[in-house]
Amino acid sequence: MKKLAAGNWKMNGTAAALAEVQALIAAHPAPACEMLLCPPATLIGHMASLAKDSALCVGGQDCHPKASGAHTGDISAIMLKDAGASHVIVGHSERRTDHGETDALVQAKAVAAVSAGLVAIVCVGETEAERDAGRTLAVIGGQLDGSVPAGAVAASLVVAYEPVWAIGTGRTPTLAEIAEVHAFIRARLTARIGVEAAGVRLLYGGSVKPSNAAEIFAVPDVDGALVGGASLKAADFGAIVAALGT
Ligand code: 13P
Repeated sequence: MKKLAAGNWKMNGTAAALAEVQALIAAHPAPACEMLLCPPATLIGHMASLAKDSALCVGGQDCHPKASGAHTGDISAIMLKDAGASHVIVGHSERRTDHGETDALVQAKAVAAVSAGLVAIVCVGETEAERDAGRTLAVIGGQLDGSVPAGAVAASLVVAYEPVWAIGTGRTPTLAEIAEVHAFIRARLTARIGVEAAGVRLLYGGSVKPSNAAEIFAVPDVDGALVGGASLKAADFGAIVAALGT
């Protein structure tokens, strides 16, 4: 299984930020892992042109479950694919919170993504209150059951574990806590999609940076990272890519 270093730019970046992408591509012509950046939708076309013939893949941060129609401001998976994307993040906790996205909606988005030919990166993760209440595995199990499409296959599904309280805070779970959740996700996926689960990349996300990437990547069942803030700078993201590449 090839590991995956994925960057989520969130609502950051204008055309000026593409200089960072050029630097990243130049510094990592042949990384050992897959390298993906998910910029705002406004930059997908630009970034995909820059990344053509390079090792960098480009993805979206969200998609609508329908292919087209009267949904002002939304973007379909087919449109992302057309703009040059190969992946799309669905069900990020910021969308679940900011836009009230349910597991059923996230699942519909993942189905749309896969039928458009994209890899769906389905995000799950507990809040701090849920962890404190000892409900972490129950919450994640419910999100997986509700958000992962039935019949999902390893080639078009990635699951990202992002504890909500670790996103943008500089705090991370212990390595044992990450190991516990990733082993749980692998087992739950196996119950849901059978042998395909063995090949699904499980990413950890939440305050991943160059200084903690190597130790997190050494945790069993961690097959890469979904990186927010540290993906905005070529040097930081490149160091994380390098940490996966040995
Ligand atoms: P940070 O790496 O900034 O904590 O963000 C993680 C994240 O939400 C990636 O999707």
